[in-house]
Amino acid sequence: MSPDRFGETVVTTSTPLASVLQYWRTLGFRWLALPEASRQREQQLRELQATVQRCRLCPLHPNRRQAVLGVGDPWSPLLFVGEGPGAQEDIEGQPFVGAAGQLLTKALWMVGIDRRRVYIANVVKCRPPENRTPRPSEMSACFPYLRRQIEILRPALLVPMGNPAMSMILGRTGIQQWRGQWFQKNGVWVVPIYHPAYVLRNPETFPLLLNDLRQIAEVARHFGWL
Ligand code: URA
Ligand code: SF4
Repeated sequence: MSPDRFGETVVTTSTPLASVLQYWRTLGFRWLALPEASRQREQQLRELQATVQRCRLCPLHPNRRQAVLGVGDPWSPLLFVGEGPGAQEDIEGQPFVGAAGQLLTKALWMVGIDRRRVYIANVVKCRPPENRTPRPSEMSACFPYLRRQIEILRPALLVPMGNPAMSMILGRTGIQQWRGQWFQKNGVWVVPIYHPAYVLRNPETFPLLLNDLRQIAEVARHFGWL
């Protein structure tokens, strides 16, 4: 992991400023967030939120009560990406608040991650009818919004959950094969994991999900991402 991240500033480890920031980190400071930059990031997310609420780019739009952009800490270096909102998400306007969300929240908690300290989003922002898997054309139509979200949030680690998110982010299929493996894509770490809804339907895979999350938590703590 080469550059170190403090707020919007990417500092190479050789500069004097970097050693000062490293020292601050040992004192327990996680972020040096410049107020101006911080407001900008939140403002950019609000603008994106307004854009997806109005979006009619794919056939999912008539089915939504509201578009669901994302939730969590916009300063977290960890970005988890699911498939698309379900019924409860469509009502509450937040990703992963239904049954699969409860499993995700619990699994994160079991490895010491408070879900409020990471950021959680989906590939498509509108609920597919009967919670079906979003079609490739719908995912492609919506993908520029996720790309913009990644641009705004600048995560160090992306965690696609399940096949649809993994195929959009990594261009690979076969979650059984790739889950828990570390990839680099455009300078960002990517670790696919099982989708929590899949784990709900296949409870024997829960230990594998926990195992992958535990490794993610360990690395994240090592780099000061949590
Ligand atoms: N809830 C979400 O927000 N996304 C999913 O993929 C599943 C449930
Ligand atoms: Fe637009 Fe995405 Fe909703 Fe489709 S799913 S209407 S592309 S915001």
